[in-house]
Amino acid sequence: MAGAIETTKMTERKDDRLWGGRFERAPNAGFDAFQGSFAFDQRLLPHELAVDRAWARALKGVGILNAEEVRQTVAALDRIAKRAQKEKTFLESPDAEDVHHFVESALVEELGPLGWKLHTGRSRNELVATDFRLFVKDAAAQIKTAIAELVSTFVTLAKVNLHVPMAGMTHMQHAQPILLSHFLLAHAEAFLRDIPRLESAAASADACPMGSGALAGCSFPIDREAVARELGFSRITANSLDAVSDRDFALDYLFALAGICTHLSRLAEDFVLFASQEFGYVLLPDEFSTGSSLMPQKKNPDAWELIRGKTGRITGALVGLLTTLKGLPSSYQRDLQEDKEALFAAHDQVAAMLAVATGALSATKFREDKLNCAASNSALLATEAADYLVRKGMPFRQAHDVVGKLLNQAERENKKWTELPVAELKKLSPVFEDDFSNGLDVEAALAAKSVPGGTARESVRAACKELEIKLKKLGAKP
Ligand code: ARG
Repeated sequence: MAGAIETTKMTERKDDRLWGGRFERAPNAGFDAFQGSFAFDQRLLPHELAVDRAWARALKGVGILNAEEVRQTVAALDRIAKRAQKEKTFLESPDAEDVHHFVESALVEELGPLGWKLHTGRSRNELVATDFRLFVKDAAAQIKTAIAELVSTFVTLAKVNLHVPMAGMTHMQHAQPILLSHFLLAHAEAFLRDIPRLESAAASADACPMGSGALAGCSFPIDREAVARELGFSRITANSLDAVSDRDFALDYLFALAGICTHLSRLAEDFVLFASQEFGYVLLPDEFSTGSSLMPQKKNPDAWELIRGKTGRITGALVGLLTTLKGLPSSYQRDLQEDKEALFAAHDQVAAMLAVATGALSATKFREDKLNCAASNSALLATEAADYLVRKGMPFRQAHDVVGKLLNQAERENKKWTELPVAELKKLSPVFEDDFSNGLDVEAALAAKSVPGGTARESVRAACKELEIKLKKLGAKP
């Protein structure tokens, strides 16, 4: 039966396993393939090698390695790093159980028995936690840069589109006029909020478990602070038992990624709608669209659809890890090996999603005519009419009702409500005066929203400036 585990076939007894001594028989071949993780944890190799270099120095501090042995070990680790970069087949190592085993085997190949000394006083349980924390710290920094680029693209577009009004919506119904720039900056704000979540995930990963051993700590008085410092950690973990089982940093990172994707999927949904013939607010860029194999006229918003679609698996990765961790007892359990694949994939997907979103956004042309046309729907000014009555002293609820009746009458007469003569309006309320229609237009409605955070041009300009300051602090290019 294809794919089934053969219960009889055994792998050859290998002497270089990290744990073989007490075993009489080699593992079942199917189980061996099932339990190994090198296929995916080889991605941690640069971090593993960094930890190994630091550990070699720590072992010198406690008299396990002498200066010459440290020199040889570090040089061999450097050679392994180079081979991994240059030799394509080097990592095709069917015998390696995981990245830790791979490095030890390579080290022994380089150094002979000296290579067996490096694992003194340490465990794969702390190694994998340390490597994974280093990965998450780097990954979070990479995504932070990508977010800053996306936010910067929104600001650039907002600045060049300050003259374009659009129909703001709630419940997908026309509501009030807003500036296109205001809409763009709304997305920028959402993504900006993802940055502290990424920073918090990186801060949660920023503690070094080395010295925790398998669970109980290290029997050699190694300088944990020095190891942490050398690896760029700002602190050491506080409890060895907690350190080998803690994956909160991975959850924090996946939560930050899921938040980013939730924002990306909203952006994607807006652009899928805007690209439809019904809205026609944007022209899809050829570079970020595809066509139909059957219908020659089609240009589809695939970039946005895929961004929206991929969000599911990122949210899934978060829920998946939460589910793996639920109910695990204290200390290291092999279940924890399931933490990496989904997180690596989620990170890669989010990096790609951000790059595509930034590219598609910069290449998108906005249809000013369509946006203007939607913004000039007179229904969008109904709230302005109610505000007019309020300024004349009418309580708002009453003003709301008067304008509602006015719209209803216009609808029955199949007219635009703004076309009703003032005499008609006065019948509904004597508060209406001849000055009513003065300044009742999109520009006035926009200008009235001049509070900070509002859609008046001045407020949006100020928001652009604020965002530019924040981006500068993040080191984003202008
Ligand atoms: N591959 C393992 C993981 O990712 C490394 C630690 C294995 N530890 C052990 N005691 N089997 O979690």
